[in-house]
Amino acid sequence: MITATLLILTAYLLGSISSAILVCRLMGLPDPRTQGSNNPGATNVLRIGGKKAAAITLLGDSLKGLIPMLIGHALGAPPLTLAGIGLAAFIGHLYPVFFGFQGGKGVATALGVQFGLYWPIGLCTAAVWLFVARVLKISSLSALISMAFAPFFVWLFWDERALIGMQLIITGLLIWRHRRNIHNLVAGTEQPIRLKGSEDL
Ligand code: G3P
Repeated sequence: MITATLLILTAYLLGSISSAILVCRLMGLPDPRTQGSNNPGATNVLRIGGKKAAAITLLGDSLKGLIPMLIGHALGAPPLTLAGIGLAAFIGHLYPVFFGFQGGKGVATALGVQFGLYWPIGLCTAAVWLFVARVLKISSLSALISMAFAPFFVWLFWDERALIGMQLIITGLLIWRHRRNIHNLVAGTEQPIRLKGSEDL
């Protein structure tokens, strides 16, 4: 019980470290919360800082989900504890204690959690993201569609109620955090994936 609580707390604290804000600070870029979509996430860092900054942000945010899950596995945590760890890392990214509880939308961290839970789950979600991004070239839509499929992937590879529940909550919160994107998608004003200083990809 103490180990589970410590793991969940550690996952939340790790999730609270905003890669986007730190990467932008270290690379002398503007604060992602004040530019583009104002979202501290890899897509917005791509807009304001380019590919390298975005790739580091993506990696950092994914590792926040991946590492605590792998530690949970290594310590033999049961599904309920793994679900708590995954949810805590994700919520840390959305509501980070180190950044006034104003975080990002959670796509990369959710992917990290899925890869850490069982890599084929992460692979399937990432494949859907990449496919939709390739065809439609809109990051938010790729995130929404791939994460809508994610509970099904969890069910497919690890049919455990706690873990499916974890993914359903993650997907629900992720949709909620994308409500402005959804509004823009409906209005037809959502911006395609765009590199700093370039035309659409
Ligand atoms: O990962 C976040 C993405 O789905 C949308 O980001 O900056 O276009 O709102 P953004």
